Amino acid sequence: MRTPFVAGNWKMNKTISETRELVTALTLKLKEIGGVEKVLCPPFISLAAAAALLEGSGIGLGAQNMHWEEKGAYTGEVAPAMVKELCGYVILGHSERRAYFSESDEIVNRKLHAAQKVNLTPIVCVGETLEQYESNQTREVVSRQTSQGLKGVTSEFAPQIVVAYEPVWAIGTGKASTGEAANVVVRDFIRPAIAELYGQQTAQAIRVLYGGSVTGANAEEFFSQPDIDGALVGGASLKVDDFYAITKAAAR
Ligand code: PGA
Repeated sequence: MRTPFVAGNWKMNKTISETRELVTALTLKLKEIGGVEKVLCPPFISLAAAAALLEGSGIGLGAQNMHWEEKGAYTGEVAPAMVKELCGYVILGHSERRAYFSESDEIVNRKLHAAQKVNLTPIVCVGETLEQYESNQTREVVSRQTSQGLKGVTSEFAPQIVVAYEPVWAIGTGKASTGEAANVVVRDFIRPAIAELYGQQTAQAIRVLYGGSVTGANAEEFFSQPDIDGALVGGASLKVDDFYAITKAAAR
């Protein structure tokens, strides 16, 4: 049995004081929902404020990115140990990082190894662009991102990885995939790529989320699929009622 998982990716939204407001409101609403692993991922600069408010709430905290090196001359970057002091989770290889900050599968893999070193639970994002989708490359792209991105960690750490399948064409567009289509990608491309690396048992143990225009209204469609274990939520994670409805749907 895989515990359902819902994470909010706030992206570059909310100041520190706005973060305090939203975390306080979300904590009040979400505390009644059990049986779901809940994670909020505000910007780096708000992590300390969020961590203080989330203490004892049963809601986890994650960063949206980190560097792979332990420390040193990397102006503007944040090291794994710094994230670990405040967070239990880190999003890696989000499509916006891949598209705007040139993150390759190799970089994502380095970051995954860095997460293992400090024992952060990584949420690794994979997904095809619209162009790749339209030219029938979904299998090839998603399989490659999974096997290149996830390779080489220990068999003890591997089951802790969370994968998010996020078709790029569905992110922030209001055009979500369908539950059935997303399930096919997870079942036929992502889990088999994991099985090749770590065996069938790990491939069945790893949580795989769907992401891309998830709302309170469509969440159920994804969560009712056998291979989808939750969601990585962008826009709707900034709205208390929507994020509550999504989390509630995951608990069912
Ligand atoms: P969205 O973003 O829910 O706003 O489409 C999802 C994501 O980028 O993780």
